[in-house]
Amino acid sequence: MAAKSTEEIYIGLDVGSTKVCCIVGLHEEGVAYPSIIGVGVAPTSGMRKGVVVDVEETVSSITAAVDEAERISGIAIDRATIGVDGGHVQSLNSKGVIAVGRADQEITVDDLQRVEEAATAIQLPPNREILQVFPRSYTVDGQTNVKDPVGMNGVRLEVEAHIVTGATPAIKSLERSIYQAGIEIQGQVLVPLAAARAVLTKRQKELGVAVIDIGGGTTGVAVYEEGDILSSSVLPVGAGHITNDLAIGLKTDVDRAEKIKLKHVRAHVGKANMSEKIRLEELDGDDNFVTRRELQDIAGARLEEIFQLVRQELKKAGKDQLLPGGVVLTGGGAKMPGIEDLAKELLGLPAAIGKPEGFTGIVDRISDPAFAAPVGLMLENMSRAHSAPVPGRAIGQTVDRIKGIFKNLLP
Ligand SMILES: Nc1ncnc2c1ncn2[C@@H]1O[C@H](COP(=O)(O)OP(=O)(O)OP(=O)(O)O)[C@@H](O)[C@H]1O
Ligand SMILES: [Mg+2]
Repeated sequence: MAAKSTEEIYIGLDVGSTKVCCIVGLHEEGVAYPSIIGVGVAPTSGMRKGVVVDVEETVSSITAAVDEAERISGIAIDRATIGVDGGHVQSLNSKGVIAVGRADQEITVDDLQRVEEAATAIQLPPNREILQVFPRSYTVDGQTNVKDPVGMNGVRLEVEAHIVTGATPAIKSLERSIYQAGIEIQGQVLVPLAAARAVLTKRQKELGVAVIDIGGGTTGVAVYEEGDILSSSVLPVGAGHITNDLAIGLKTDVDRAEKIKLKHVRAHVGKANMSEKIRLEELDGDDNFVTRRELQDIAGARLEEIFQLVRQELKKAGKDQLLPGGVVLTGGGAKMPGIEDLAKELLGLPAAIGKPEGFTGIVDRISDPAFAAPVGLMLENMSRAHSAPVPGRAIGQTVDRIKGIFKNLLP
């Protein structure tokens, strides 16, 4: 393939519980969205519930996905924005207050940086670190809801920031795996926030919306309001747990249970005949019939649990049944037939499936809810490269830099 300036190439790498996915985007000047020129996917081993449990196995899964993306794109991949996942992730909203620095009281970029530092000066338990910081809104001398205070005049500047933290050991083992696969980490983004980036419109975020990314081992939730992130979390349960439940309930192995799930299970049965007998060819023996009710009872219990936990997250954010933009479902679990109806019923909100759209290139492959997060990571990689170091990102960048230094110390 013809040589391309690497400056126009952006890479997202999502190491999920069931698949590693690497997306290569090529950005041409004057075009809003990059063209997808490479996609690499490999089954994951070595991950559980979004956390690395075996570095060596994870490295070989990452290498397989990156190799495929390199083959397809003709690009040598040595850097990426990566996704962070797992139940260890927590988020909180914090406030910072400072006195404006300049004698003439004009607010500068330097003030934004200082006030953000004040907001992140929080007591974190040992073994926990800040992953991402988002300034949500500023208050200047009591005037609330200021989006960009630079150039305004004031004495007292306050910020409300959304802070995402993660457990250091989990982050370290992910970083080590990615580093050992030969990839430099250019940024770390919480998986549901990456998915949101790929599927939400500005208008939905203004209205109030939540992304629910139902993966194999985790379910990520990100809530937006007035254009900004309000809350984010990762629950340690996903669509893979339905497979495990089926394996136990039907006394079979996980591979067969997965096939049965994909072929027969629906998230919402509607008016289906629950006594209908379904023949499970995957099971041995003559007596391999189950009723639809038996299947649905197993899968339904887990789906209900997932949506109940999601609803608790919405409640914590004060948004239970209060999101005019509804919920957008992503992740492989969003492909289960009838999932929108179940989400509507259990969350009391409008629901839709979110797929990355509006791209050119290898679009058939990525037009899939399971590709929302990896495509969003590629977009993050692009926006970080394009945006000048805005103060809103300053701390994130400091964290990245510190990690860069730390990485050099790794074996
Ligand atoms: N058509 C489908 N119907 C039902 N479930 C599906 C379908 N396709 C994929 N899944 C499920 O989606 C899950 C994988 O989703 P995804 O690829 O988003 O996970 P992941 O990113 O690897 O994991 P995680 O985000 O939890 O770390 C698997 O449990 C798989 O069975
Ligand atoms: Mg995922």
